Amino acid sequence: MESQQSGPLSGAVAVVTGGGRGIGHAIAGRLSAMDATVVITGRDAGRLRQVAGELGAKGRTVHAFACDVTHRASVEELGERLRRAHGRVDILVNNAGIAGPRGLLHELPPDDWDAIFNTNLRGVYYMMRAVVPLMIAAGAGHIVNISSLAGKNALPRGVAYSASKWALNGLSYGLAEELREHNIRVSVICPGSVDTDFSPRRHGKDTSRMLKPGDVAHAVAALVTQAPQSFISEILLRPTRKP
Ligand SMILES: NC(=O)c1ccc[n+]([C@@H]2O[C@H](COP(=O)([O-])OP(=O)(O)OC[C@H]3O[C@@H](n4cnc5c(N)ncnc54)[C@H](OP(=O)(O)O)[C@@H]3O)[C@@H](O)[C@H]2O)c1
Repeated sequence: MESQQSGPLSGAVAVVTGGGRGIGHAIAGRLSAMDATVVITGRDAGRLRQVAGELGAKGRTVHAFACDVTHRASVEELGERLRRAHGRVDILVNNAGIAGPRGLLHELPPDDWDAIFNTNLRGVYYMMRAVVPLMIAAGAGHIVNISSLAGKNALPRGVAYSASKWALNGLSYGLAEELREHNIRVSVICPGSVDTDFSPRRHGKDTSRMLKPGDVAHAVAALVTQAPQSFISEILLRPTRKP
């Protein structure tokens, strides 16, 4: 019998951290529209269920799973659930991230430093531990880490955030080299300011010129539909006109 699913990601399982809001929501929508089975995660279980329901009503296959990427046990439980329910993860988008408060680094409370690094860096490491063994077993996979142009440039009054994204880039480049022999691609997307609730940096800007969450989703879609021999390792994503 002919399958009803015929999109480019039909049969693939994609996990999107922070898939309930903002950029992650757009990525989940895009990948599910390409017929991937999408697992969205985040801390807000109600919001995740709502998004999964909305996308499900459009005929997409989206599962919600509450998971705090800063909690090792929570991520390990997610990994186990993925293994039992799907037995595979073809695409992992590490999107969950926080900016922390704006201000001078020497005035940043250490708890905020910890929260930023535990979410933006340690959380990605935890997700790699949970998912990479499944990809290695399958002999294929694509990991997309949502970094930032703040991981390429200096960001005064956002130094800890910026440093976490520089570190995320380093983690991604190194892991890419470890995993490419397993046919697993690790890519980074570094967007400039995106029009979400994420950061006060959008206030006072011309939001019509800003990147939209869908622009980042478009970049993810391009990465995960490359020919098997092609590996775009990094995308720097800027608004055409400065906001
Ligand atoms: N917006 C921008 O200007 C911009 C620019 C460049 C890069 N980025 C990056 O893009 C990513 C998404 O940003 P966004 O603009 O979509 O932000 P957002 O609207 O604030 O969404 C952040 C997402 O991360 C999730 N999250 C935060 N902490 C988490 C945790 N401990 N465990 C699991 N999920 C967690 C949130 O879900 P819950 O609240 O449900 O946990 C939410 O879905 C971030 O990595 C950010 O650094 C954003």
